[in-house]
Amino acid sequence: MLPNKHIIALSAAVLLLANVTTEKGTALAQSIPSLKDTFKKDFGIGTALNNAQIEERDPQMTEFIARQFNMATPENIMKSALIHPKWDTYDFSMGDKLVDFGRKHNIKINGHTLIWHSQLPSFIRGIHSQDSIRTFFTDHIKTVAGHYKGKVFSWDVVNEALNEDGTLRKSVFLQYLGDDYITQAFRLAQEASPGTELYYNDYNNEQPAKRAGCLALIKKVKEAGVRIDGVGIQGHWHVGKIPLNDIEESINQYAALGMKVMFTELDIEVLPRNFQGADVGQRMTANEQSNPYAAALPDSVQQQLAADYEALFKLFLKHKDKVTRVTFWGINDGQSWLNNWPIRGRTSYPLLFDRNNQPKPAFYRVIGLKKG
Ligand code: G3I
Repeated sequence: MLPNKHIIALSAAVLLLANVTTEKGTALAQSIPSLKDTFKKDFGIGTALNNAQIEERDPQMTEFIARQFNMATPENIMKSALIHPKWDTYDFSMGDKLVDFGRKHNIKINGHTLIWHSQLPSFIRGIHSQDSIRTFFTDHIKTVAGHYKGKVFSWDVVNEALNEDGTLRKSVFLQYLGDDYITQAFRLAQEASPGTELYYNDYNNEQPAKRAGCLALIKKVKEAGVRIDGVGIQGHWHVGKIPLNDIEESINQYAALGMKVMFTELDIEVLPRNFQGADVGQRMTANEQSNPYAAALPDSVQQQLAADYEALFKLFLKHKDKVTRVTFWGINDGQSWLNNWPIRGRTSYPLLFDRNNQPKPAFYRVIGLKKG
């Protein structure tokens, strides 16, 4: 019989061990293959980072990120509402931390995003003159791109400017500045940050009509003699419905215009939704069927998800001469925006790592493409 104090010490040690592996689950996952190393000769591997990750609140998570990824995009903190909260006030605190994070862990930062119709500062709603919108637009790009000159690798200069039919979205910028605003945005970004790669980024721009609009947009910028280096296909797709043919056609057509092609916000939704895409303005009402996998993901769906990821990465590898980066929109399922969109509080499973940061079958299928 052990004396009481030994029993207490032993139980504490067991509890501690259990915590390390179950609470975060990151300890074990450090020993798995690394995505960035596996694809190092092919393309960059990125992730979206949230505040907790940028601030390194969990050292195991930091280590995990540094081991798996060599590129990162801020999920929210460089959007105009956060970085430019008042007319004459900018807040670079989190963005600067992100830049430090990148330097420290050898991760290239893609700034996201300079001009987007969503997550605009609230003061924009009170502006109703062309002059003021133009001043906001110009000052915002000059100040933000200027601040991060030489500090970020690239910028999503303009985000989601297109409608599904390929026409330009009626954003505040289109309304007040006309359709030349996109070229202007690239011109200003180039002047403010000459050494930075400049991209156009959108969702569903692999679909034929939207792709045609995107190709026209790129041509227009180039014909004005303004630099645009690449195009981001966000890649918010749905399990069992990956548009592989459209994606391949898009890679070829964008590359034919001299664009670097990137998959910038990759995730695969497994939950029911009655529309495609990632328009954050769209919402759905919850019902009894809308959160079917609250307890666990059925194996059949898990396997389909794995097959979808494998097929996608097979395609990316086939076109590795044109695809320069693949970025996941988040590290693990628990942190994905899809748990809260288009319905709040669901349980989604869109990424390669589960809620404990453990690799899912999809991870091994993707890694397996480079073995043997
Ligand atoms: O930070 C506040 C918090 O203080 C507040 O209590 C809480 C209550 O709603 O909201 C928090 O802000 C949320 C923010 O994410 C941070 O979590 C916003 O409501 C929420 O709208 C915001 O969602 C982001 C969304 O963009 C907004 O546009 C998602 O995290 C982000 O993943 C998503 O990312 C976009 C890309 O930038 C562009 N492409 C589509 C992609 C997915 O929508």
